Order: sequence, then structure tokens, then C-alpha cells
Amino acid sequence: MTKTIIRDQLKRPLRDLRISVIDRCNFRCTYCMPADIFGPDFAFLPRSELLTYEEIDRLARIFVDLGVEKIRLTGGEPLMRKDLPVLVGMLSKIEGLNDIGLTTNAVLLPKYAKSLKQAGLKRVNISLDSLKDELFGEINGRGVGIKPVLKGITSAKEAGLGVKINMVVKKGLNDEEIVPMAKFCKEEGLQLRFIEYMDVGSTNGWKMDDVVTKQEIFNLLSEHFLLDPVDPDYFGEVAKRYRYKDKNVDVGFITSVSESFCSSCTRSRLSANGQIFTCLFNGNGHDLKEFMRAGASDEEIRQRVISIWDGRKDRYSDERTAETAANRKKIEMSYIGG
Ligand code: GTP
Ligand code: 5AD
Ligand code: SF4
Ligand code: SF4
Repeated sequence: MTKTIIRDQLKRPLRDLRISVIDRCNFRCTYCMPADIFGPDFAFLPRSELLTYEEIDRLARIFVDLGVEKIRLTGGEPLMRKDLPVLVGMLSKIEGLNDIGLTTNAVLLPKYAKSLKQAGLKRVNISLDSLKDELFGEINGRGVGIKPVLKGITSAKEAGLGVKINMVVKKGLNDEEIVPMAKFCKEEGLQLRFIEYMDVGSTNGWKMDDVVTKQEIFNLLSEHFLLDPVDPDYFGEVAKRYRYKDKNVDVGFITSVSESFCSSCTRSRLSANGQIFTCLFNGNGHDLKEFMRAGASDEEIRQRVISIWDGRKDRYSDERTAETAANRKKIEMSYIGG
């Protein structure tokens, strides 16, 4: 299959599509969907606004034809969307797509891991920010302890899925969990990625002072472990990885704040209601749902995607200041899935 390679204004090719399948979540992580804002009356997207699986599949095929090799399913919590394995099964039939991943809080994985794997899912990235039940319950805003997540991890491993762990680090909240999490993941043979807390959306009250940088985390880890840097697996890999000298396990850092990685950003994002965002920190998307529902042909949609990517200049993390963090209109994380 010959793909058309398209490049944006900064010469970055289109390689990845992150698809949010639902804006709801069973957690209320303080850094993502604070419970006081995402309360019982919060207006989530009505069902009719969500792209159907057929619509997602149709768009995904057009994106793959334009260079996308990797698809990641996100939410909110993607496993809250009914019958997600059905979508995975549809996407896994797309020729030219090499990788399908899922980012999840893992609570529903015991129920779905096997069928997801059977449908063609390759990997899951699981969020876990602490090993202490009480603290984890406070962070996830629902008082859920770590056991359901550990069960989810086990079921993903047993199903044969690749597993990585995501830990968002926030100063004064869970920085004491850095070393225990590293030890735990090393023992379990799991790749842990430390994520610098980001100013996504406008509801999490982000402050630069709350960020623990990669360098700070690395210095702390170096007191306990010997680490060697590892080359990226491919152009635009988000995490910077290191490997334990005494065990073939990697640990990574996602450094959007202290060392931005916009120059190699090949990612596009499709929201659950069919808007394309060319940066995690955009305020507005480009609508494809209404266009599609009004009868646009594949070729018309394709031309629209080409023109969106062609106009792309985003490099928010390169330009971040306290002023942009506080004042720029940005879409919420739960709406485009990180
Ligand atoms: P793989 O590398 O394919 O395993 O996945 P990933 O790390 O790209 O995806 P995941 O959903 O696990 O995201 C991990 C963290 O990286 C989340 O906090 C995302 O918001 C963040 N992230 C992913 N892509 C970008 C990006 O393009 N820009 C920024 N600033 N953050 C990103
Ligand atoms: N900063 C950094 N990472 C975040 N995530 C959610 N909100 C934030 C934030 N404000 C992470 C989640 C999940 C991934 C999709 O994004 O923990 O692992
Ligand atoms: Fe839900 Fe993930 Fe956001 Fe937590 S970070 S509220 S688990 S979508
Ligand atoms: Fe890509 Fe925007 Fe993230 Fe930069 S800030 S890496 S442009 S999504």
C-alpha cells in the first residue's frame, strides 16, 4: 500500500492518531477531571454526538492513507465506551496500520483484556500515580485503592498485551512515591514513565511550582539505581527512556514542561465528537463529524485533513509561559485523551 506523506508547516509528518472514544471517566483525577468541576451535573457529550464505530473506522482509514501508522484509543476512560473490542477489531483490519494501543486506568481491564487482545490490540498504557491506597484514592477522586488497578495490570499481562505504567508526578502530592513506584515496576518488569504535570485544559489549577522536572526525578532515581540512556525506538517517541544496568527494564520520562518535544510531534487527535486537534493544547478543533454527516465523500474528507495538517504550526510546549498556562483557552484533557 502506498501512503501519501503529508508534512505540516514545521515539516513534521503525520504518523499518529489518538482517538478519544468517550469523554466520561469512572475516576476524577485531580489533575485531569477535578470532581468539583466534573460533578453530577456536568454536561458530558450526548450519545448522538459521539462518532459511531463506523464513522471512527472511516476516518481512521483516511488518516492511515495519509501516513498514520499508530493509533491510540483514549477517553476519558475508553473502556467505558460500550463494546470497545468491536472497534479494535475494525481498526485492526486496516492495512498499513502497525500499532493499536489503549490508554486506560485499568479498572475495567479484567473484564476486557482478553477480548481486546483477540481483537488485535497490542499494548496498554496504564495510569497509576501511587502505591498507597489512601493517596491513590485521593488522587483519583473516587477513593479507589490500588487493587483494582493491579488486577487490571495482571489481566493485561495474562492476555499477552504489552504494558507500560504512566505516573503523573505533582509536587507535594505524590513525589514521595517516585522511588517506590520505580522499585515496584522494576521488580514487575514493567516500563514506568514519569510524566511531568502539564497545564492541560483550564480546570486543574496548574502552577509551574507544582511540576517535578525530569532532572529532579532522574537525580532522585540515581541515588537508588544505575541507569543507561536508550535510543528512541522511532522518530517522535514521546518518552525519553533509560534502562536499568542490572535488569532489562526501561524507565521513561515525558518532559513536556522541562524539555519540550514539539519539533518531532507527529500526533493528531480526534475527539469523541469528531473534532481534529493538531495539538493537545489547542482551544478549538476542526470539525469532521458534521462534515461527514452532511454527506462529504472520502475524497472530500481526505482533502480537508490534508489542508488541516498543511496549516499546522503548533508547538505549544516550546512556547509555554506562566501567562499562556493561565490564560490561553485549552481543551480539557478528558475530551481529547492526552
Ligand atoms: P506510546 O509512546 O505509544 O506508548 O504512548 P504515549 O506515551 O504517546 O501515550 P499515553 O497516552 O500513554 O500518554 C502519556 C503521556 O504523554 C500523557 O500525559 C499524554 O498527555 C502525554 N503526551 C502524549 N503525546 C503528547 C504530545 O504530543 N504532547 C504532549 N505535551 N504530551 C503528550
Ligand atoms: N498532566 C500530565 N499528564 C496527565 N494525564 C492526565 N492529566 C494530566 C496532566 N495534567 C495523563 C494520565 C494518563 C494520560 C493519558 O495522561 O495520567 O496516563
Ligand atoms: Fe480518568 Fe485518566 Fe483523566 Fe484520571 S487521568 S480522570 S483516569 S481520564
Ligand atoms: Fe505536539 Fe502540541 Fe505536545 Fe508540542 S505541545 S508535542 S505540538 S501536542
